[in-house]
Amino acid sequence: MSPVSHDIQDQLQHLQQEAQAALANTSSLKDVEDLRIHFLGRKEGRLTHIKRGLKDLSEAERPAIGALANEVSNAIETMLQERLDALKNEALQAQLAKEAIDITMPGTYVPGGQLHPLTLVIDEVLDIFHGMGFAAIDDNVCPEVETDYYNFEALNFPADHPARDMQDTFYTDAGSNVLLRSQTSNAQIRFMETHRPPIRVVAPGRVYRNEEVSSRKGVLFHQIEGLLVDEKTTFSDLKGVLHQFVKLFFGQERPTRFRNSFFPFTEPSAEVDVQCILCNGQGCRTCGHHGWLEILGAGMVDPNVLKGVNIDPEKYTGFAFGMGVERLAMLKYSIRDLRLFYSNDVRFLRQFKG
Ligand code: PHE
Repeated sequence: MSPVSHDIQDQLQHLQQEAQAALANTSSLKDVEDLRIHFLGRKEGRLTHIKRGLKDLSEAERPAIGALANEVSNAIETMLQERLDALKNEALQAQLAKEAIDITMPGTYVPGGQLHPLTLVIDEVLDIFHGMGFAAIDDNVCPEVETDYYNFEALNFPADHPARDMQDTFYTDAGSNVLLRSQTSNAQIRFMETHRPPIRVVAPGRVYRNEEVSSRKGVLFHQIEGLLVDEKTTFSDLKGVLHQFVKLFFGQERPTRFRNSFFPFTEPSAEVDVQCILCNGQGCRTCGHHGWLEILGAGMVDPNVLKGVNIDPEKYTGFAFGMGVERLAMLKYSIRDLRLFYSNDVRFLRQFKG
């Protein structure tokens, strides 16, 4: 073997050892990539440099040394790849260890929320009426900020009629005819303006009255309006529906009474009282010492109201009712003071389970 050949052979073996040592010190993919360029780079790589010396060898020596150069090249290539794989695997293991989740660890306690008692009552009432074929009107069909027309005029309250004083109304400064609705009965007009009989709907919502706040009355409370218009509807249909409702909501045993009453938009009109659950009719502060609590007003839709929305009162008759949600809830859950519904006291609210 010629000295040149011997020298190249030496260099090649040395290069392989050097690459092996250098790779052992790498700690990132970039380190490995840098070494690849350093040893195997096409232009400046160390191996390329050595290979250039092959041309000085004799024809006889060249094949063997050339083969050795390829062997060394492959060996370094393999070492680089192995190192890359090892580093990738290390990174993966580190990440897995970092993100490990101990599924046996107890979770963080998140207290479950509950529905507000008034929501529970509204849901239950709607459910009962749904069972009798009444559909619930979408809340946004009937605004809380309403005009005099829908809250009073279309409901047959003549201008300056004392009946308007029955409901102390909040007026807004958006205009003398813009008010906070004092009853959900605006839903009757709004619905009949866009629908023809047969009509069978219920509409829950908030109403406002300028009243002195007490255990039984608030400035804001909730009502559920009901409206049925069809051919041959009678007062006994109304009584049947309301009796059925009271039975399903309060139970068969709870005494109930119908009283003659007056509303401008119904004729004849009635009010329904339920015997006070807190004192069983003995009289207490909650029922104003009457022994009974009024829960709803009702009656046959006045022909004038039907005419106003272009429904022929000769062909169609109907009934309407409006119930106070807070009253229903007080009786159902034996709550003495309506203000508790708005105090946001979790000790109170936690007692109600849907
Ligand atoms: N809107 C009446 C009130 O708030 C209740 C009612 C509704 C009466 C429908 C008759 C018919 O007192």
